[in-house]
Amino acid sequence: MRHATIIGTGRCLPEQVITNNDLASIVETSDEWITSRTGIKQRRISTGENTSDLAYKAGLRALERAGIGADVLDLIICATITPDSFMPSVACMVQDRLGAKKAAAFDLSAACTGLVYGMAVATSFIESGMFQTILVIGAETLSKVMDWTDRGTCVLFGDGAGAVVLQASEQKQGIRSMHMISDGSKQDYLSLSALPLLNPFVESGEQKITPYISMKGQEVFKFAVRTINDLIQKVLAKAELKEDDIKYVVAHQANYRIIEQAAKFAGIALDKFFVNLDLYGNTSAATIGIALDEMNEKKLLEPGDKIILVGFGGGMTSGAILVDWT
Ligand code: UT7
Repeated sequence: MRHATIIGTGRCLPEQVITNNDLASIVETSDEWITSRTGIKQRRISTGENTSDLAYKAGLRALERAGIGADVLDLIICATITPDSFMPSVACMVQDRLGAKKAAAFDLSAACTGLVYGMAVATSFIESGMFQTILVIGAETLSKVMDWTDRGTCVLFGDGAGAVVLQASEQKQGIRSMHMISDGSKQDYLSLSALPLLNPFVESGEQKITPYISMKGQEVFKFAVRTINDLIQKVLAKAELKEDDIKYVVAHQANYRIIEQAAKFAGIALDKFFVNLDLYGNTSAATIGIALDEMNEKKLLEPGDKIILVGFGGGMTSGAILVDWT
Protein backbone atom coordinates (compact mmCIF):
# COMPACT_ATOMS: atom_id res chain seq x y z
CA MET A 1 0.00 0.00 0.00
CA ARG A 2 1.13 3.54 -0.74
CA HIS A 3 1.51 5.90 2.22
CA ALA A 4 1.68 9.69 2.37
CA THR A 5 4.74 11.10 4.16
CA ILE A 6 5.56 14.68 5.10
CA ILE A 7 8.79 15.61 3.32
CA GLY A 8 8.88 19.36 3.96
CA THR A 9 7.32 22.14 6.01
CA GLY A 10 7.30 25.92 5.62
CA ARG A 11 5.87 29.06 7.14
CA CYS A 12 5.63 32.77 6.49
CA LEU A 13 4.63 35.45 8.98
CA PRO A 14 4.26 39.15 8.18
CA GLU A 15 6.95 41.36 9.75
CA GLN A 16 4.66 43.65 11.73
CA VAL A 17 4.33 42.57 15.39
CA ILE A 18 1.26 43.88 17.22
CA THR A 19 1.40 43.42 20.99
CA ASN A 20 -1.49 43.28 23.45
CA ASN A 21 -0.49 46.76 24.61
CA ASP A 22 -0.73 48.01 21.01
CA LEU A 23 -4.31 46.71 20.90
CA ALA A 24 -5.09 48.36 24.24
CA SER A 25 -4.57 51.67 22.47
CA ILE A 26 -7.37 50.95 19.95
CA VAL A 27 -9.97 48.97 21.96
CA GLU A 28 -10.82 48.76 25.65
CA THR A 29 -8.65 45.83 26.66
CA SER A 30 -5.42 45.05 28.49
CA ASP A 31 -2.38 42.80 28.26
CA GLU A 32 -3.51 41.25 31.55
CA TRP A 33 -6.99 40.32 30.19
CA ILE A 34 -5.74 38.92 26.88
CA THR A 35 -2.88 36.98 28.45
CA SER A 36 -4.90 35.47 31.27
CA ARG A 37 -7.93 34.55 29.10
CA THR A 38 -6.07 33.32 26.02
CA GLY A 39 -2.29 33.06 26.47
CA ILE A 40 -1.76 35.35 23.47
CA LYS A 41 0.94 38.04 23.90
CA GLN A 42 1.34 39.29 20.34
CA ARG A 43 0.36 38.54 16.75
CA ARG A 44 1.63 39.41 13.25
CA ILE A 45 -0.53 41.72 11.16
CA SER A 46 0.03 42.21 7.46
CA THR A 47 0.57 45.75 6.24
CA GLY A 48 0.90 44.85 2.57
CA GLU A 49 1.04 41.14 1.84
CA ASN A 50 -2.22 39.45 0.89
CA THR A 51 -3.04 35.79 1.55
CA SER A 52 -1.49 34.60 -1.72
CA ASP A 53 1.83 36.35 -0.90
CA LEU A 54 2.08 34.61 2.47
CA ALA A 55 0.92 31.30 0.95
CA TYR A 56 3.52 31.51 -1.83
CA LYS A 57 6.39 32.18 0.60
CA ALA A 58 5.34 29.37 2.98
CA GLY A 59 4.96 27.00 0.02
CA LEU A 60 8.35 27.95 -1.43
CA ARG A 61 10.03 27.34 1.91
CA ALA A 62 8.32 23.94 2.27
CA LEU A 63 9.60 22.93 -1.19
CA GLU A 64 13.13 24.11 -0.29
CA ARG A 65 13.07 22.11 2.95
CA ALA A 66 11.78 19.08 1.02
CA GLY A 67 14.61 19.56 -1.48
CA ILE A 68 12.32 19.37 -4.50
CA GLY A 69 11.35 21.76 -7.27
CA ALA A 70 7.83 23.00 -7.98
CA ASP A 71 7.89 21.09 -11.26
CA VAL A 72 7.27 17.77 -9.45
CA LEU A 73 4.06 18.96 -7.75
CA ASP A 74 0.88 17.22 -8.92
CA LEU A 75 -1.49 19.28 -6.81
CA ILE A 76 -1.60 22.43 -4.68
CA ILE A 77 -4.36 22.81 -2.09
CA CYS A 78 -4.70 26.10 -0.26
CA ALA A 79 -6.93 26.14 2.82
CA THR A 80 -8.17 29.66 3.51
CA ILE A 81 -11.21 31.69 4.52
CA THR A 82 -9.53 34.96 3.51
CA PRO A 83 -8.59 34.50 -0.17
CA ASP A 84 -7.41 37.47 -2.25
CA SER A 85 -10.44 36.87 -4.50
CA PHE A 86 -13.26 34.37 -5.06
CA MET A 87 -11.63 33.68 -8.41
CA PRO A 88 -8.87 32.91 -9.20
CA SER A 89 -8.14 30.76 -6.17
CA VAL A 90 -5.11 31.43 -3.97
CA ALA A 91 -3.86 27.96 -4.96
CA CYS A 92 -3.84 28.97 -8.67
CA MET A 93 -1.97 32.20 -7.86
CA VAL A 94 0.61 30.19 -5.91
CA GLN A 95 0.88 27.63 -8.71
CA ASP A 96 1.73 30.40 -11.15
CA ARG A 97 4.32 32.06 -8.88
CA LEU A 98 5.98 28.75 -8.03
CA GLY A 99 5.98 27.66 -11.67
CA ALA A 100 4.30 24.37 -10.78
CA LYS A 101 3.33 23.78 -14.38
CA LYS A 102 1.88 20.27 -14.14
CA ALA A 103 -0.06 20.81 -10.89
CA ALA A 104 -3.80 21.06 -10.39
CA ALA A 105 -4.73 23.70 -7.83
CA PHE A 106 -7.75 24.57 -5.73
CA ASP A 107 -8.75 26.29 -2.49
CA LEU A 108 -10.46 24.52 0.36
CA SER A 109 -12.80 26.15 2.88
CA ALA A 110 -12.88 24.51 6.32
CA ALA A 111 -11.90 27.51 8.50
CA CYS A 112 -9.36 26.66 11.19
CA THR A 113 -9.51 22.93 10.34
CA GLY A 114 -8.44 23.77 6.77
CA LEU A 115 -4.88 22.43 6.84
CA VAL A 116 -5.97 19.16 8.47
CA TYR A 117 -8.76 18.72 5.90
CA GLY A 118 -6.33 19.59 3.11
CA MET A 119 -3.79 17.06 4.35
CA ALA A 120 -6.52 14.40 4.60
CA VAL A 121 -7.62 15.09 1.01
CA ALA A 122 -3.99 15.02 -0.16
CA THR A 123 -3.34 11.76 1.70
CA SER A 124 -6.36 10.15 0.05
CA PHE A 125 -5.17 11.25 -3.42
CA ILE A 126 -1.72 9.82 -2.68
CA GLU A 127 -2.99 6.55 -1.22
CA SER A 128 -5.31 6.05 -4.20
CA GLY A 129 -2.38 6.41 -6.61
CA MET A 130 -3.85 9.48 -8.29
CA PHE A 131 -1.02 11.83 -7.26
CA GLN A 132 2.57 11.49 -6.06
CA THR A 133 3.53 14.88 -4.57
CA ILE A 134 1.17 17.49 -3.10
CA LEU A 135 1.69 20.91 -1.51
CA VAL A 136 -0.89 21.78 1.15
CA ILE A 137 -0.94 25.35 2.48
CA GLY A 138 -3.01 27.01 5.18
CA ALA A 139 -2.89 30.79 4.70
CA GLU A 140 -4.85 33.69 6.12
CA THR A 141 -4.96 37.45 6.33
CA LEU A 142 -7.60 37.52 9.04
CA SER A 143 -6.80 41.17 9.78
CA LYS A 144 -8.95 42.15 6.79
CA VAL A 145 -12.06 40.43 8.23
CA MET A 146 -11.67 41.65 11.81
CA ASP A 147 -14.01 44.18 13.35
CA TRP A 148 -11.25 46.30 14.88
CA THR A 149 -13.80 47.88 17.24
CA ASP A 150 -14.85 44.51 18.71
CA ARG A 151 -12.51 43.61 21.58
CA GLY A 152 -14.16 40.18 21.83
CA THR A 153 -12.63 39.06 18.53
CA CYS A 154 -9.90 41.42 17.30
CA VAL A 155 -7.48 40.47 20.08
CA LEU A 156 -7.57 36.79 19.15
CA PHE A 157 -6.46 36.56 15.55
CA GLY A 158 -3.36 37.11 13.42
CA ASP A 159 -2.06 36.71 9.85
CA GLY A 160 0.27 34.01 8.54
CA ALA A 161 0.76 30.88 6.45
CA GLY A 162 2.01 27.35 7.05
CA ALA A 163 2.66 24.62 4.50
CA VAL A 164 3.51 20.93 4.19
CA VAL A 165 4.67 18.84 1.24
CA LEU A 166 3.27 15.31 1.14
CA GLN A 167 4.77 12.58 -1.02
CA ALA A 168 3.99 8.92 -1.73
CA SER A 169 6.13 6.25 -0.10
CA GLU A 170 6.04 2.46 -0.17
CA GLN A 171 7.31 2.34 3.47
CA LYS A 172 4.73 1.97 6.26
CA GLN A 173 5.28 5.47 7.65
CA GLY A 174 3.83 8.96 7.41
CA ILE A 175 0.10 9.50 7.82
CA ARG A 176 -1.15 6.56 9.91
CA SER A 177 -4.76 7.53 10.60
CA MET A 178 -7.20 10.38 9.98
CA HIS A 179 -10.64 11.46 11.11
CA MET A 180 -12.79 14.29 9.77
CA ILE A 181 -16.22 15.45 10.88
CA SER A 182 -18.47 18.51 10.57
CA ASP A 183 -21.55 19.80 12.38
CA GLY A 184 -23.41 22.39 10.30
CA SER A 185 -26.06 22.76 12.99
CA LYS A 186 -23.48 24.83 14.92
CA GLN A 187 -22.77 27.17 12.00
CA ASP A 188 -23.66 30.25 14.06
CA TYR A 189 -20.78 29.62 16.51
CA LEU A 190 -18.32 31.23 14.09
CA SER A 191 -19.28 33.06 10.93
CA LEU A 192 -18.04 35.39 8.23
CA SER A 193 -20.43 36.54 5.50
CA ALA A 194 -19.70 36.64 1.78
CA LEU A 195 -21.64 38.83 -0.67
CA PRO A 196 -25.39 39.28 -0.16
CA LEU A 197 -27.79 37.95 -2.80
CA LEU A 198 -28.52 41.15 -4.68
CA ASN A 199 -29.55 41.30 -8.32
CA PRO A 200 -32.18 43.14 -10.37
CA PHE A 201 -34.67 40.33 -9.76
CA VAL A 202 -34.48 40.35 -5.97
CA GLU A 203 -37.53 42.22 -4.63
CA SER A 204 -36.14 43.61 -1.38
CA GLY A 205 -32.90 45.52 -1.79
CA GLU A 206 -32.42 45.61 2.01
CA GLN A 207 -29.85 42.88 2.57
CA LYS A 208 -27.10 43.97 4.89
CA ILE A 209 -24.04 41.90 5.57
CA THR A 210 -21.27 42.43 8.08
CA PRO A 211 -17.96 41.50 6.49
CA TYR A 212 -16.35 40.55 9.81
CA ILE A 213 -15.86 37.40 11.86
CA SER A 214 -18.50 36.98 14.51
CA MET A 215 -18.20 34.39 17.24
CA LYS A 216 -19.95 32.78 20.20
CA GLY A 217 -16.74 32.46 22.19
CA GLN A 218 -17.90 30.30 25.05
CA GLU A 219 -19.74 27.87 22.77
CA VAL A 220 -16.62 27.52 20.61
CA PHE A 221 -14.52 26.99 23.73
CA LYS A 222 -16.67 24.08 24.97
CA PHE A 223 -16.91 22.57 21.50
CA ALA A 224 -13.13 22.74 21.10
CA VAL A 225 -12.23 21.05 24.38
CA ARG A 226 -14.68 18.18 23.78
CA THR A 227 -13.73 17.79 20.13
CA ILE A 228 -9.95 17.76 20.59
CA ASN A 229 -10.30 14.90 23.05
CA ASP A 230 -12.79 12.94 20.87
CA LEU A 231 -10.57 13.26 17.82
CA ILE A 232 -7.40 12.26 19.65
CA GLN A 233 -9.16 9.09 20.83
CA LYS A 234 -10.44 8.38 17.29
CA VAL A 235 -7.06 8.62 15.54
CA LEU A 236 -5.31 6.70 18.33
CA ALA A 237 -7.85 3.86 18.04
CA LYS A 238 -7.60 3.78 14.23
CA ALA A 239 -3.80 3.60 14.41
CA GLU A 240 -3.94 1.08 17.29
CA LEU A 241 -1.79 3.31 19.49
CA LYS A 242 -2.09 4.60 23.06
CA GLU A 243 -1.70 8.09 24.58
CA ASP A 244 1.78 7.15 25.84
CA ASP A 245 2.96 6.43 22.28
CA ILE A 246 2.44 10.09 21.33
CA LYS A 247 5.44 12.45 21.35
CA TYR A 248 3.56 15.66 20.52
CA VAL A 249 0.05 16.93 19.91
CA VAL A 250 -0.12 19.90 17.58
CA ALA A 251 -3.57 21.34 18.26
CA HIS A 252 -5.07 24.36 16.52
CA GLN A 253 -3.64 27.40 18.32
CA ALA A 254 -6.66 29.39 19.51
CA ASN A 255 -6.49 29.63 23.28
CA TYR A 256 -4.03 28.23 25.83
CA ARG A 257 -6.89 27.41 28.21
CA ILE A 258 -8.52 25.25 25.51
CA ILE A 259 -5.25 23.33 25.12
CA GLU A 260 -4.88 22.98 28.91
CA GLN A 261 -8.37 21.55 29.34
CA ALA A 262 -8.15 19.32 26.28
CA ALA A 263 -4.86 17.86 27.56
CA LYS A 264 -6.50 17.04 30.89
CA PHE A 265 -9.51 15.42 29.16
CA ALA A 266 -7.31 13.41 26.83
CA GLY A 267 -5.00 12.21 29.61
CA ILE A 268 -1.94 13.49 27.75
CA ALA A 269 0.70 15.57 29.57
CA LEU A 270 0.34 19.28 28.81
CA ASP A 271 4.02 19.55 27.88
CA LYS A 272 3.36 17.24 24.91
CA PHE A 273 1.12 19.94 23.39
CA PHE A 274 3.20 22.29 21.24
CA VAL A 275 2.26 25.92 21.90
CA ASN A 276 3.21 29.06 19.96
CA LEU A 277 -0.06 31.00 20.14
CA ASP A 278 1.64 33.47 22.49
CA LEU A 279 3.64 34.71 19.48
CA TYR A 280 1.13 34.56 16.62
CA GLY A 281 -2.41 34.38 18.05
CA ASN A 282 -4.97 32.38 16.09
CA THR A 283 -4.04 32.31 12.38
CA SER A 284 -6.93 29.94 11.51
CA ALA A 285 -5.94 27.46 8.78
CA ALA A 286 -2.28 28.43 9.19
CA THR A 287 -1.67 27.55 12.85
CA ILE A 288 -0.81 23.87 12.51
CA GLY A 289 1.50 24.35 9.52
CA ILE A 290 3.33 27.20 11.26
CA ALA A 291 3.73 25.05 14.38
CA LEU A 292 5.02 22.06 12.41
CA ASP A 293 7.61 24.19 10.63
CA GLU A 294 8.81 25.69 13.92
CA MET A 295 9.07 22.23 15.46
CA ASN A 296 10.97 21.01 12.42
CA GLU A 297 13.36 23.97 12.62
CA LYS A 298 13.94 23.42 16.35
CA LYS A 299 14.69 19.74 15.55
CA LEU A 300 11.98 18.60 17.97
CA LEU A 301 10.82 15.86 15.59
CA GLU A 302 12.73 12.65 14.95
CA PRO A 303 11.96 9.79 12.58
CA GLY A 304 9.52 7.38 14.23
CA ASP A 305 7.95 10.03 16.51
CA LYS A 306 4.17 9.73 16.57
CA ILE A 307 2.43 13.10 16.54
CA ILE A 308 -1.22 14.10 16.36
CA LEU A 309 -2.41 17.16 14.44
CA VAL A 310 -5.87 18.25 15.55
CA GLY A 311 -7.96 21.16 14.34
CA PHE A 312 -11.41 22.66 14.93
CA GLY A 313 -13.11 25.67 13.44
CA GLY A 314 -16.07 27.42 11.88
CA GLY A 315 -18.66 25.25 10.24
CA MET A 316 -18.23 23.66 12.72
CA THR A 317 -15.48 21.52 11.24
CA SER A 318 -12.93 19.37 13.00
CA GLY A 319 -10.35 16.78 12.12
CA ALA A 320 -7.21 15.00 13.26
CA ILE A 321 -4.30 13.20 11.65
CA LEU A 322 -1.83 10.86 13.33
CA VAL A 323 1.61 11.07 11.76
CA ASP A 324 4.54 8.67 12.06
CA TRP A 325 7.27 11.28 11.46
CA THR A 326 9.87 10.45 8.82
O1 UT7 B 1 -10.52 29.12 15.81
C1 UT7 B 1 -11.54 29.18 16.76
C2 UT7 B 1 -11.64 30.60 17.19
N1 UT7 B 1 -12.28 30.91 18.39
C3 UT7 B 1 -11.98 30.43 19.62
O2 UT7 B 1 -11.23 29.54 19.84
C4 UT7 B 1 -12.71 31.10 20.75
C5 UT7 B 1 -12.93 30.22 21.96
N2 UT7 B 1 -13.35 31.04 23.07
C6 UT7 B 1 -12.47 31.77 23.81
O3 UT7 B 1 -11.29 31.70 23.58
C7 UT7 B 1 -13.03 32.61 24.94
O4 UT7 B 1 -14.43 32.40 25.04
C8 UT7 B 1 -12.71 34.13 24.75
C9 UT7 B 1 -11.24 34.37 24.96
C10 UT7 B 1 -13.14 34.59 23.39
C11 UT7 B 1 -13.48 34.95 25.77
O5 UT7 B 1 -13.13 34.52 27.07
P1 UT7 B 1 -14.27 34.28 28.14
O6 UT7 B 1 -13.60 33.89 29.40
O7 UT7 B 1 -15.25 33.33 27.55
O8 UT7 B 1 -14.86 35.72 28.32
P2 UT7 B 1 -16.36 36.24 28.08
O9 UT7 B 1 -16.72 36.24 26.64
O10 UT7 B 1 -17.28 35.51 29.05
O11 UT7 B 1 -16.26 37.74 28.56
C12 UT7 B 1 -15.98 38.04 29.93
C13 UT7 B 1 -15.88 39.55 30.05
C14 UT7 B 1 -17.05 40.28 29.43
O12 UT7 B 1 -17.34 41.41 30.23
P3 UT7 B 1 -18.56 41.38 31.29
O13 UT7 B 1 -19.79 41.13 30.47
O14 UT7 B 1 -18.26 40.26 32.23
O15 UT7 B 1 -18.50 42.71 31.91
C15 UT7 B 1 -16.50 40.77 28.11
O16 UT7 B 1 -17.15 41.93 27.63
O17 UT7 B 1 -14.72 40.03 29.38
C16 UT7 B 1 -15.06 41.07 28.49
N3 UT7 B 1 -14.15 41.05 27.36
C17 UT7 B 1 -12.99 41.71 27.38
N4 UT7 B 1 -12.40 42.49 28.31
C18 UT7 B 1 -11.20 43.00 28.03
C19 UT7 B 1 -14.27 40.39 26.18
N5 UT7 B 1 -13.19 40.62 25.41
C20 UT7 B 1 -12.37 41.42 26.13
C21 UT7 B 1 -11.13 42.00 25.89
N6 UT7 B 1 -10.56 42.77 26.86
N7 UT7 B 1 -10.46 41.79 24.74
